[in-house]
Amino acid sequence: MFIESPRYTERFGAVRINAVQRVVSLDSGFKSELPAHGAMGVMKIDEDTIKSFEGRMVVVIPIKDEKLKLFEGVISGVPHDCLVIVVSNSQTGKINRFKMEKDALNQICRYTMRNAFIVHQKDPVIAEAVRQAGYDDILGEDGLIRDGKSEAMVMGLLMAKVARKEYVGFIDADNYFPGAVLEYVRDFAAGFSLARSPYSMVRILWHYKPKISGGIYFKKWGRVSETTNKCLNDLIFSKTDFETEVIRTGNAGEHAISMKLAELLPYASGYAVEPGELTFLFESFGGILPEIDHEAVEQGIDLFQIETRNPHMHEERGTQHLKDMLLSGLATIYHSPLCEESTKRLILRELVNQGALSSRGKPPVPHFNAPIGKIDSSKFMNVIKEHLGVLYALHEE
Ligand code: GDP
Ligand code: CO
Repeated sequence: MFIESPRYTERFGAVRINAVQRVVSLDSGFKSELPAHGAMGVMKIDEDTIKSFEGRMVVVIPIKDEKLKLFEGVISGVPHDCLVIVVSNSQTGKINRFKMEKDALNQICRYTMRNAFIVHQKDPVIAEAVRQAGYDDILGEDGLIRDGKSEAMVMGLLMAKVARKEYVGFIDADNYFPGAVLEYVRDFAAGFSLARSPYSMVRILWHYKPKISGGIYFKKWGRVSETTNKCLNDLIFSKTDFETEVIRTGNAGEHAISMKLAELLPYASGYAVEPGELTFLFESFGGILPEIDHEAVEQGIDLFQIETRNPHMHEERGTQHLKDMLLSGLATIYHSPLCEESTKRLILRELVNQGALSSRGKPPVPHFNAPIGKIDSSKFMNVIKEHLGVLYALHEE
């Protein structure tokens, strides 16, 4: 693939925030005769390089009662060498959507001779495994893993650790275009190949988000993303005194993290997870608050933001969902120890203007699931391993 080289890198303590890089072309050919660094700030990422990262990557797909056709499409778009881990919170009652997902996944895996895992968020085996590992943080009052996309991501991370993978990508199950999914993973690989540090994160910015209203039109920015980015950039500005627009992927559902970094991050519950990750990076590696990991500070954190060629199209869930997402996302910034009065005022103003908060209200204090690096993962593995073959692995028999 051809991708713009990072033109500009803003530093916030140990975090190297690269400005958005556009994918120039999805493929760069079989022959590798072209110079690696092409003309005019465009870089060629070899197919071999992309494949080598895909082979070390898990793709976690959180799903909750999505249309089966969308789910099948997403699976079919994930490059073959990635290990797929589906974490489902779909209904299991009379209409057993989880079973349908499992069957669909099984069939694709059999046809294409690949292996994948699918686990249910409410599976008591997983709850027992995290309990054994001392990770009660993620359990609800019923003793099972709590609802939420972030909780599903954490389960996916734990499974990725069992599989000893080095990189973990997250892709939503409600993506309409399998071709876009394929590109997301290639973009993750491209980003990781540019990282200097083993602590790295790649976040996807979509080229356009098509909307249908009368005819189809291609919208560049959603209101939630725009606001979240503005508040994150304001947080940086309040510490550096230089206005910036460098953050453009505050709400990126499609993103990937090197396992070394993923183990250090806490994950804010539900939909607050994506902006929460950035807030936490700034808190923990910004050089203002005490550092949490010396090696990571020494090596630095590489943050990439890659703009896709494909447009992004996913399920639309209405304005209440968007308001909830905005509120819980901005709450992670609002309650950050880094957040100054000026940024707090901006957040409250935005939330009230967009009808996500009453004029006297305050954003709720977010709940963070603790970093998985702190738990005894061998205990988690032991419980999982006993059940792995029977319950989750899909083999082509
Ligand atoms: P948006 O794209 O950010 O508006 O959020 P979505 O509602 O599309 O959710 C993102 C992804 O997470 C989708 O694939 C959902 O099916 C999935 N998801 C949402 N809530 C949960 C949950 O509680 N558990 C799991 N496993 N997946 C969830
Ligand atoms: Co979605």
